[in-house]
Amino acid sequence: CGIVGYVGNRPALQIVLDGLRRLEYRGYDSAGVAVIDDTVILTEKRAGKLANLEKALTERASDGIATGTTAIGHTRWATHGGPTDRNAHPHLSADGRVAVIHNGIIENFARLRAELEATGIEFVSDTDTECAAHLVAAEMRALRESGTDVEGPQLLAEGMRRAVRRLEGAFTLLAIDLGVPDAVVAARRNSPLVVGRGDGENFLASDVSAFIEHTREAIELGQDQIVLITPDTIEITDFTGEPATGKEFHIDWDASAAEKGGYDYFMLKEIAEQPQAIADTLLGRLSDRGEIVLDEVRLTDQDLRDVDKIFIIACGTSYNAGMVAKYAIEHWVRIPCEVELASEFRYRDPILDRSTLVIVISQSGETMDTLMALRHAKDQKARVLAICNTNGSTIPRESDAVLYTHGGPEIAVASTKAFLTQLVACYLIGLHLAQIRGVMYADEVAAVVERLQRTPDDLRHLLDQMESVRALARDLRTASTVLFIGRHVGFPVALEGALKLKELAYMHAEGFAAGELKHGPIALIDEGTPVVCVVPSPAGRGVLRDKVVSNIQEVRARGARTIVIAEDGDDAVAAYADHLILVPRTPTLLAPLMTTVPLQILACEIAAARGHDVDQPRNLAKSVTVE
Ligand code: G6P
Repeated sequence: CGIVGYVGNRPALQIVLDGLRRLEYRGYDSAGVAVIDDTVILTEKRAGKLANLEKALTERASDGIATGTTAIGHTRWATHGGPTDRNAHPHLSADGRVAVIHNGIIENFARLRAELEATGIEFVSDTDTECAAHLVAAEMRALRESGTDVEGPQLLAEGMRRAVRRLEGAFTLLAIDLGVPDAVVAARRNSPLVVGRGDGENFLASDVSAFIEHTREAIELGQDQIVLITPDTIEITDFTGEPATGKEFHIDWDASAAEKGGYDYFMLKEIAEQPQAIADTLLGRLSDRGEIVLDEVRLTDQDLRDVDKIFIIACGTSYNAGMVAKYAIEHWVRIPCEVELASEFRYRDPILDRSTLVIVISQSGETMDTLMALRHAKDQKARVLAICNTNGSTIPRESDAVLYTHGGPEIAVASTKAFLTQLVACYLIGLHLAQIRGVMYADEVAAVVERLQRTPDDLRHLLDQMESVRALARDLRTASTVLFIGRHVGFPVALEGALKLKELAYMHAEGFAAGELKHGPIALIDEGTPVVCVVPSPAGRGVLRDKVVSNIQEVRARGARTIVIAEDGDDAVAAYADHLILVPRTPTLLAPLMTTVPLQILACEIAAARGHDVDQPRNLAKSVTVE
């Protein structure tokens, strides 16, 4: 979910709405705002995208909702309770004095709800969040009745502290109180929260993109901290009220990096940015001594030499990047490497110890499944190295070493440039390990890096030739099933191609290891079934290429329509292709940097041709901060 809070000297509503628009990628099942007016907290909330909320607000503009200078807003990815108007945030306390928004899951909500209902409170939604609104209000009332001399904003902060001490689970909570018109209080456990420091105004948000147009000075809250903002103050404590400090930082990317820049969709813009994103990720990675440079390394070379097993852990597209990494790392480093879905990892009791290296891959750095797997790995004393695109997010902060992908902000929910830069990061880590452990010489490492440095140009060339893929997309838009096959690193590419099509076009799509097809999935093939075949380079691994060509013949014999992705110069393959897409020549292990790109465009264009919202596909969110 996306969260925004504002307190200052300007009308808060528009500032909060603008912030929500930038955070909408975090969830868009529903949206809502609450603004403190003189005598009442005005709220408006609507199921569906932010536009529905904005329309509702326009209709009631005469209420004067636009004038208050303290507000909170939320854009939701539903967990408890369906995406309805009623379940949208903010939620109010029974007396209407406290409004709360929330990102995360309150795990003990059923018990709390029963307890609150027993005191006569009637719940009006199915959400866990509503408990928090009633709890904060109850704690503030109890404080007032106790005759405490705590008052004003401090009363709100203390009410929040007392309330969150009763909560279990993951949450970022923001609350405002009618009696404290110039303050917003927030609590953070496990879900992200940053403060933006302005001049006579302050901001709260799930990430900095929400307030980047107003200020570049930010503070990241730590785990189990409370922050109270007023127009001129920012005060951080822990949950017991002890003073605490957050991590101050300056935001160095530009707001325009998060705008569409002339493209119809963020996704198309981000696909086009891939050559630059790769170049930026490679920048400065090779030292004068020919060594690979990571960003933050709290591990010694000896720690890395002691590694005897590697796990790569991630979700979604990042998992597919991990699948590619396994091939490269095992080949270069000669250490067993397993790839695992983060949501499965800790629950199957994996065998880890001090000499296990866990590589976690996450674009956002906030994915809860991945974070929990990371914490489990650390509990087992494993070393953790993060690959992440978001500076200062939770996953890199909790890891022992970090390599940032310098892809810039990725807004479209379906990941593209983050995927390619994750691949680059994985290659760099593989080379680094191989070098430290003495299995590759500096000049061998430099040769691969030099080849990587040429991929941005190759990719620019490829991107200029995607017209035929667009035409193909229009043709395929009515297919009921699309299958993807590949071998070796082409297998994860097939998985990623299928994932993109599912996410964006809502079509049945599956990726298979080409050799596995004959063991079952080939039964799916019917007259005209489109099968996308990722063909390895004939150079180097000719055997592999020939095997895939045999698999293509098998599917053609059963009526499939083949869309073949092969390397420039592999002319012989044309005979087996109903549609041929050629990509620049690339060494086998690096080939996914090329072969994935036509599949991204195919999915994007099919989705657009089917009339779907490419940047915000149904039911998904970019950053999923619940398990
Ligand atoms: C969500 C997104 C996916 C993404 C996955 C992992 O499910 O919809 O596109 O691949 O999270 O995200 P991460 O930020 O950890 O890479």
